[in-house]
Amino acid sequence: MKRTEIEIYEFNTEIFNLWGKQWMLLTSGVLENDSFNCMTVAWGSIGVMWNKPFVQVVVRPTRYTNEFMEKFDTFTLSAFSEEYRKDLSYLGRVSGKHEKKLEKTALTVIPSIKIKCPSYAEAELVIECRKIYSSEFMPEDFIDNTILENYPKKDFHKIYYGEILYIGGADNFRKIN
Ligand SMILES: Cc1cc2nc3c(=O)[nH]c(=O)nc-3n(C[C@H](O)[C@H](O)[C@H](O)COP(=O)(O)O)c2cc1C
Repeated sequence: MKRTEIEIYEFNTEIFNLWGKQWMLLTSGVLENDSFNCMTVAWGSIGVMWNKPFVQVVVRPTRYTNEFMEKFDTFTLSAFSEEYRKDLSYLGRVSGKHEKKLEKTALTVIPSIKIKCPSYAEAELVIECRKIYSSEFMPEDFIDNTILENYPKKDFHKIYYGEILYIGGADNFRKIN
């Protein structure tokens, strides 16, 4: 998939579709020595915080990917066309702790542009991020108690903010002037 750099203020997408319907692949770690893992994500945000463009993701502590999010400084978020939905479903169902799950998909791991965390040749969008903040959700801070229904096992997400260092995307992610 051909991607070119998209400046922050040129980036354009249907944000609710991107997270909630298209989904993204969160990858954390470094390409060197195969020290990375990935998982599908559908919850998160993109915006501006502390005067920096950011991506925010939430990762349950039980995910193998969380070990990499804790240990390494950078992560990528990648989006794919419909053709790769079965791969994202698989990567969101099986844990990399138990198998080399990427080998069961059509995805090709490639180096990213600005960070050591890898991305994918087939992605139509890659957002490269540097971790800048993390914390744990505290159940006592949930004002709406229905949020607790998401945590029958009390595995409260860890929340991570990453500063966006680079966006590479197909032309449909570029604002039309
Ligand atoms: C559509 C979809 C969205 C998901 N979103 C998240 C998410 O935002 N946060 C999370 O912790 N897990 C999410 N998951 C679950 C993980 O992707 C899944 O548990 C995965 O197998 C974890 O892999 P790992 O153990 O190799 O890290 C989602 C799964 C799917 C299918």
